[in-house]
Amino acid sequence: MSRFRTIDDLEASGRTVLVRADLNVPLDEGRVGDDFRITASLRTIGELRRAGARVVVCSHLGRPKGPDPRYTMAPVAARLGELGGFPVRSAPDVAGEGARAAVAAAAPGEVVVLENTRFAPGETKNDAALSADLADLADLFVLDAFGSAHRAHASTVGVAERLPSAAGRLLAEEVVAFDRLLHEPERPFVVILGGAKVSDKLGVIRALLPKVDGMLVGGAMCFTLLAARGVEVAESRVEADLVPEVRAVLESAAGSRLVLPSDLVVADGFTPDAAHRVAPATAIPSGTMGLDIGPETAERFGGVIRQAGTLFWNGPMGVFEWPAFATGTRAVAAAVAEAKGYSVAGGGDSVAALRAFGMEEAVSHLSTGGGAGLELLEAGTLPGLEVLGRWADGA
Ligand code: 3PG
Repeated sequence: MSRFRTIDDLEASGRTVLVRADLNVPLDEGRVGDDFRITASLRTIGELRRAGARVVVCSHLGRPKGPDPRYTMAPVAARLGELGGFPVRSAPDVAGEGARAAVAAAAPGEVVVLENTRFAPGETKNDAALSADLADLADLFVLDAFGSAHRAHASTVGVAERLPSAAGRLLAEEVVAFDRLLHEPERPFVVILGGAKVSDKLGVIRALLPKVDGMLVGGAMCFTLLAARGVEVAESRVEADLVPEVRAVLESAAGSRLVLPSDLVVADGFTPDAAHRVAPATAIPSGTMGLDIGPETAERFGGVIRQAGTLFWNGPMGVFEWPAFATGTRAVAAAVAEAKGYSVAGGGDSVAALRAFGMEEAVSHLSTGGGAGLELLEAGTLPGLEVLGRWADGA
């Protein structure tokens, strides 16, 4: 039995449907820098339009503390219309007078995009009044924002408590992919973690270590693990306050499944053209910092990845935006793409790397979630999934 209703279970024709999408995309001088999340949201919006619903789309964009023109949804709404091939009305506010007027003016099959939900101060507090105002705009609610389903905000959870709710196509597809990782993954189950901060990933490391056959760690986060093993990491980035906790994880029963780099590309400074060389992970020269995994590590990680039955990858192996430090991330991306096993890549940077290298087609599932995917793997559920579950149970 499914744990939530989907849009197949909604009578959408002639109704107004509020869709919470995750259109939190990178902006580049006020323009959409990457449209992966917009494209991924089109299926639900398109199906509801074709079913004859008035579709009201909302999302947050960035982390503004209130109305801030730098984070207006206008460029995202325009891109949504371009990619979807349909006209889009932009509402001037989140759930006020302007939003109500824009929705009232829309005909069945038309799309309205509300202003950035984080312009409303009640959004991140899951404020009851904002949730009620959002609910008043529509007859039905569809949560399609997998990337935000770990946030119990007004536009994700608050409104779903007030309107008959279902999962959109993207959310449902993401849950199928993560279910496959969480329940009976084909062995060996290998997780690859990278990125800047171990603090973002300690929870998932603890939760997954007992379930995986190997956990390969690169990126800046590996230096806190190396430091916890007693390695002198020179100028490399370390979260010193986490070293005792990380040491306890390394010394735990499953700690031996953590695989750390044996060599690194170290640089004299944090710049794209810094002088750099390969050094053993146990002998990082003083005055240098690690900015990528080394060739021996890349080969070792690649061998483990290619043999995996199930793979999850979140986080780059180095500063892949700078060509001198992209080799390790490229090697891991290539191994994930070549692996015969079932593969899921999540997190903006890993997905951006796969796309930059033209390897995204070879991955079984490219997730739109970063933190949401990690939290789902850690906790087994998310606030957004829980609230949808209540409707499936006949709330
Ligand atoms: C993300 O990009 O991970 C999601 O859109 C959530 O954004 P947030 O971390 O600002 O809540």
